[in-house]
Amino acid sequence: MFDLTGKNAAVTGAARGLGKAIALGLADAGADLALVGLEGELMEDVAQAIRAKGRRAVVVELDLRNVPAIAPAFAKAEELLGPIDILVNNAGVNKTEPSVDVLQETWDRLNDVNLRAPFFCAQAVAPGMLARGVGKIINIASDAGQKGYAEHAAYGATKGGIIQLTRDLAVEWAGRGIQVNAIAPGAAWTDMTTPAMQIPEIAASILARGVSPRITNPEEIAWAAIYLASKEADQVIGHILNVDGGSGAQ
Ligand SMILES: NC(=O)c1ccc[n+]([C@@H]2O[C@H](COP(=O)([O-])OP(=O)(O)OC[C@H]3O[C@@H](n4cnc5c(N)ncnc54)[C@H](O)[C@@H]3O)[C@@H](O)[C@H]2O)c1
Repeated sequence: MFDLTGKNAAVTGAARGLGKAIALGLADAGADLALVGLEGELMEDVAQAIRAKGRRAVVVELDLRNVPAIAPAFAKAEELLGPIDILVNNAGVNKTEPSVDVLQETWDRLNDVNLRAPFFCAQAVAPGMLARGVGKIINIASDAGQKGYAEHAAYGATKGGIIQLTRDLAVEWAGRGIQVNAIAPGAAWTDMTTPAMQIPEIAASILARGVSPRITNPEEIAWAAIYLASKEADQVIGHILNVDGGSGAQ
């Protein structure tokens, strides 16, 4: 079960955090990897770790805010690795602040990376997937896309948007062999959350979002990605898989 041998997966934002864990997890399950995003040196470290597992890995540097560069980057990934069977739209940025302080620059940056880029990454790989009649697209959403949190308006709007994008693309492409799904993490240990978790009051409020007494480890998001990328999940379509310590259950 959950054997991805022979599959090529592209993961955006694979330099660190959840993207790194997902890339390593998919490699453990047998996939070869294209690591797409910023921070090329860190992605190269991840690529080395994947090669040490006996899998192939290529690095393609891309600023996801640059829409015209997205299709060429995925074309390069396919040239280096082969046809992309699995796309994980993971890269994301966050800034929490009172809504009265949010600048247009912040709103645009979060939207560009978290919502606009995943659509154009999907658009870059979908023609090949549709032609081959098989493909998996996994969007990394958030519990913040399903619940309201103070000082999260710009971020939450992008994550609510990617959940709707997941359902729309799932419906459009499911009949032609592509399953589009999302994972909605709650707070997980990464560079995005670790600074906040150092502040006891913020850590307590983050923990209070869920019913689990701890926050999620990155590998626990990777295991969900492996499942959604596998043929065992072929009938899972347009689903939002919460891996959130029970945040969504409250
Ligand atoms: N960590 C959490 O608690 C948590 C919770 C819910 C959802 N998420 C989501 O999970 C995903 C990964 O988050 P993380 O915690 O690993 O974050 P992180 O900050 O540790 O890593 C973000 C990654 O995105 C890449 N990236 C940022 N801007 C980019 C750009 N313009 N172009 C290309 N790549 C870019 C970075 O290089 C990095 O590899 C995000 O979509 C985030 O919203 C995280």
